[in-house]
Amino acid sequence: MSITPSTEDLAISAEASPRTGLAGAPQGPAAVSALVEEAMHTLALATAERGGPLPARGPHEVAEAVRAALSATGAAALPRLTRALTAGAADPAHPHCAAHLHCPPLAVAVAADTVASVLNQSLDSWDQSPAATAMETQVVAELAELVGYRGEQAGGVVTSGGTESNLTALMLARDHALGTATGREVGRHGLAPSRARPRILCGRVAHFSVQRSAALLGLGEDAVVAVDVDERHRMRPAALRAALERTRADGDVPVAIVATAGTTDLGGVDPLPAIAHLAEEFGVWLHVDAAYGGGLLFSRRLRGLLSGLESAHSVSMDLHKLGWQPVAAGVLLTRERAMFAPLSRSVDYLNPTDDEESGYPSLLGYSLRTTRRADVFKIAVTLRTLGTDGLGAMVEACHDLAQRTAAQVIAEPRLELAQAPSLTTVVFRYRAGGTAEHGDRVNARLRRRLLEQGRAVVGRTSIDDRVWLKLTLLNPDTTPDDTAALLALVADAGDAEQSHLQESR
Ligand SMILES: Cc1ncc(COP(=O)(O)O)c(C=O)c1O
Repeated sequence: MSITPSTEDLAISAEASPRTGLAGAPQGPAAVSALVEEAMHTLALATAERGGPLPARGPHEVAEAVRAALSATGAAALPRLTRALTAGAADPAHPHCAAHLHCPPLAVAVAADTVASVLNQSLDSWDQSPAATAMETQVVAELAELVGYRGEQAGGVVTSGGTESNLTALMLARDHALGTATGREVGRHGLAPSRARPRILCGRVAHFSVQRSAALLGLGEDAVVAVDVDERHRMRPAALRAALERTRADGDVPVAIVATAGTTDLGGVDPLPAIAHLAEEFGVWLHVDAAYGGGLLFSRRLRGLLSGLESAHSVSMDLHKLGWQPVAAGVLLTRERAMFAPLSRSVDYLNPTDDEESGYPSLLGYSLRTTRRADVFKIAVTLRTLGTDGLGAMVEACHDLAQRTAAQVIAEPRLELAQAPSLTTVVFRYRAGGTAEHGDRVNARLRRRLLEQGRAVVGRTSIDDRVWLKLTLLNPDTTPDDTAALLALVADAGDAEQSHLQESR
């Protein structure tokens, strides 16, 4: 006798009794398996129908298709909506989908994420997540050791990504710096009225979440001091020293230096040892945003690029970038667990002090969130399934592919390479000739042409106020033949835009 009910059975029984529609045991897992199997079947068919990295339809048509699918009801909802979502998806596993730090997830991590969804643990209290609480504590300690921290002393938390990690780190740094400067507990009393302005110093191309964090933390975006970078987008230590000296001379409070290990576009890694030295000399919190570059730690060959990381007070690292996790899988690590003190909370209904004193641990005091899913589970399963070396081999494959792709750009006379890749991005553009504005227009339009045709998802950025294109290579299965074909698509789209613009003159 099959224990797997059919989709119809489930739909009927779900209508008959809401209890049978739940995912938990005893009947739930079989129901989930059946539903997932059906949805995966639909997804595979719809992926084949789409036939490319994204739908060959514009925003209006995609919205209309979604509107139509949302009319589905009952048992038809899952297949209809799965089909609509897939048909209208950007597929990060397609070799011609290479715009963003948006990785194709590992099958084993997706399976683990499904388990986490079924169990629906919440990490804000031990009694909602006994094993998950222990697992997050242990896995975070492992990742801290990978960074070079002493795992048993280090602190850390799984986050929704680099944005939350940077915000949390800067909140800890703010409370540390302003608390020290004013003798007031910032979390309790708010920002003290003071003529000393708080300052966050980061490279000019640091991620925009640094500015956003400054705004959210009540410091204002103006608190962020953009430090000059070199041509590879790495912070210049001499410029940082000058900025720190200016901050000191003005009587301002340096809240943190934010170094980046892997800038979003060029993959630049700031000179961490020199920056750490300055942070120590000026007594300033050093946060390293390794949301992108942190994955290099998995590779024995490449981890040397991050040397100095262990000197940071805190580090952001995203496993939904170079870690092949489904979103979300961010991690924030601190050298000392006590650095999380400003977030510490004892809440009667979650982690009363006497529970904690009786040996029931709580992770509530590590996160800005309250309810928090067990994203650590997929990370744990991935680390155990592939090992750091397995992930390292994937990082190396992407890094090598970026080098090969850069050589292909150089070999194609219609394209121009911005510079040799640092990590896994290749920044380049179509040589349009004519004025700089004409070149910008052609490059911007050719990217949209590829989007409209559903043939390729290529990134776009700006360097020195000019439009450049970008391939973010995060698919270790993509081959040099795939990237050659992608570059040919880009160059042909550039030719087509040139002709189009000439004809419309
Ligand atoms: C360097 C860097 N930091 C932070 C982030 C933000 O990460 P998330 O999108 O996971 O919040 C990104 C995103 O691309 C990034 O490139």
